[in-house]
Formats: sequence, C-alpha cells, structure tokens
Amino acid sequence: NNYAILMAGGVGSRFWPVSRASFPKQFHDMLGSGKSLLQSTFTRLEKSVPTQNIFILTNANYASLVKEQLPQIENRQIVLEPAMRNTAPCILLAGLKIQKENPNAQILVAPSDHWIENEEAFTKDILAAFDAVQRQEILMTLGVKPTFPNTGYGYIKAEQFDKSPVKRVERFTEKPDFKTAQSFLSEGNYFWNAGIFIWSAKAIVKAFEKHEPQMFELFKSGLAAFNSTEETQFLDEHYAKAENISIDYAILEKADNVYVLEASFDWSDLGTWGALYEELPEDENQNVLVNTTKVIADTANGNIVRTSKDKLVVIDGLQDYIIVDHDDALIIVPKEKEQDIKQIRANAVKKF
Ligand code: GDD
Ligand code: MG
Repeated sequence: NNYAILMAGGVGSRFWPVSRASFPKQFHDMLGSGKSLLQSTFTRLEKSVPTQNIFILTNANYASLVKEQLPQIENRQIVLEPAMRNTAPCILLAGLKIQKENPNAQILVAPSDHWIENEEAFTKDILAAFDAVQRQEILMTLGVKPTFPNTGYGYIKAEQFDKSPVKRVERFTEKPDFKTAQSFLSEGNYFWNAGIFIWSAKAIVKAFEKHEPQMFELFKSGLAAFNSTEETQFLDEHYAKAENISIDYAILEKADNVYVLEASFDWSDLGTWGALYEELPEDENQNVLVNTTKVIADTANGNIVRTSKDKLVVIDGLQDYIIVDHDDALIIVPKEKEQDIKQIRANAVKKF
C-alpha cells in the first residue's frame, strides 16, 4: 500500500544560469554525480516504495525531460499539470488519484531536488513514518535540527513534553521573517520542515476537505475522470482554476493532526549555490569545482566554480565567489549574495 508522489514542477531560479525555466535544477546533475537530482531521488524512493507506485508530478512543459530521464516508468506514473499552481493542488490531485486506485494507500510526498546523505537512515525513517500513519490518521512531517535562522524554510514546533520519536506538532510556521526565525532558534524545540511528508490518502484528502474546501470541490468534480482517458481533458479545463498555494500554507499551518519525526539522515535542500558548496568536497584552496578539473586558482579560495564543458579556468585573487559558466551566460557573484540570484535572473531575463 506504499505510494510516493515526487514533485518536480519547480523552477529553481536561485540556480540560474544553470537552472532555466526550460530546464530546471531537478533535471540537472547539480552534484556532478552522473545522475540528475530527479534520478537520484527516484532511486532513493524505490527502497521504500514499489517502482510502479511512484508518481512524478510536474508541469506539462517538462514531460519529455521526465520521460528521457526515467525511461523505466509508465505513462500513468507521470501526471502533467497544465499550469503552475504550487504544491497544494498537485498533492490533492495525486491524493485523489491514488485513493481511487487504492483506498488504503499511504503516500510519501517528496521534493525532487534535495541532497540526502545516508540513504539507509532515510529509508528507515520513511518506513517508520509509513507504519505510524497506517495506525493513526495523522499528517507526518520530517524535522531537521535547525542550525541558523534560515527564512526559506517552514518551522515546526514540537510539543515540549513529548519524548517519543514521533512528536505531536504544536505549531507550523511557513517561512517566518528573520526575527521570528531567530526567536524560534533561541526558544528551542523547533525543527526545520524538510519538505518530505507521509500520510494516508484518506487523511490528506480529509484535510483538504476541511481546510481547502474550494480546492477540494474543484478536484472532487473530476473524480470520475481520474485514471481514465478523460483525465487530461478535465485537467486542461479545470486545473488552472485551483488556488496558487503551497501545501505548507494550505494545510500544515492549519491542521491540528500534524506530527513530526526527527530525521536521522543528513539533509540539505540544495536551495542555493552556497548550499551546494557546503555539500561538495573542497580542493586544497577550499574551492569547490563542479564539472571541471582544469582550474588554476592558487591565489583564490572559498569559491564554487562550475563550467558547462571541461574548460580551463584561471581565477586570481577572488574569495568566496560563485563562478558559473553555462551556455550563453557567465555569472560572477559573491557567495553572500546568493539569495539575490533570483532577482538578478529576473532582471537579466527582462533586459536581454
Ligand atoms: N509538481 C509540482 N508543481 N511541483 C512543484 C511545484 C508545482 O507547481 N512548485 C514547486 N514544486 C516542487 C519543487 O520542484 C520542489 O521539489 C518542491 O515542489 C518544493 O517546492 P519549493 O518551491 O522548492 O519549496 P520551498 O523550498 O520554497 O519550501 C518547501 O520546502 C522547504 C524545504 O526545502 C516548504 O515545504 C518548506 O516548509 C520547507 O522547509
Ligand atoms: Mg525548495
């Protein structure tokens, strides 16, 4: 009864110019491992979910990329969204489809663009979570111990008195401002939301019915069409009407049956070039080289360098920079401005 929804519809704009709207980061080999992030995630999920029960949810524009990178899956496992509406609509849609196929299904929801170090620990956690949601109608999150007030994450407050590995969640706060994030860290008993969820199809569908009644009605009206040849037509006509909202704001902040399991694996959401720098091995000058081996940088350190071809790169005197050469664009941006790349990209796209 184990199923998975792999979400692969984001744009990854902070990884510009490698990540493009036409070819986002989950389809790239960001770590130089020989596999795209999507391919690595798929293989990781196969250890806790049968291959034929893993569904990829993505934008219709990425259909051919998914088929190319995961040739082993069937067409029924690829669900194409005709519009970008963030994660809540796609999770409800997949939840209803899976529930129709198997009313006793339990679903792992996973992003396609994260870095996870210890696959065995990951699988163990997922199986424990599957076990818990089979017994209780709860929404399970995976929590990571926070190390700094990152404002790009959701924060999970676990109930203080609860000592069991699975804790009841007192409050879920999506993307707090810096001050609030700081106060959460000093208060303690908070986790970062890893963006990985486990629940039964029944529990998540119920949560939508309660907290997002309009979206629930919209998709319920397509129930007869789901998993049939009519599905595409229904989605083409109605998907874009769904509210543009993430699962975090739509459900997790509102529901009172949210639980958290502390992740026992090392995790990074690989959200920025700096996060990537942290996960990859450094050379003797603390530079990180991706896709390139021919670099002369004896007087430069702390940089992350990526080229599209194995091209000779000479860097003299630069410290803590992001240097990325990709097709028609080259960027040289200080690491401390990594969050600005989203805006830099928007400006560049407008101007050129
Ligand atoms: N299918 C589909 N459709 N997938 C989408 C869409 C969509 O419209 N939008 C985003 N995704 C995918 C992304 O590709 C990614 O794999 C995942 O959904 C999460 O979306 P992000 O846009 O990366 O979310 P976030 O990083 O801002 O925040 C979420 O993840 C954090 C941890 O990385 C939240 O869940 C936070 O609470 C969490 O801390
Ligand atoms: Mg993310």
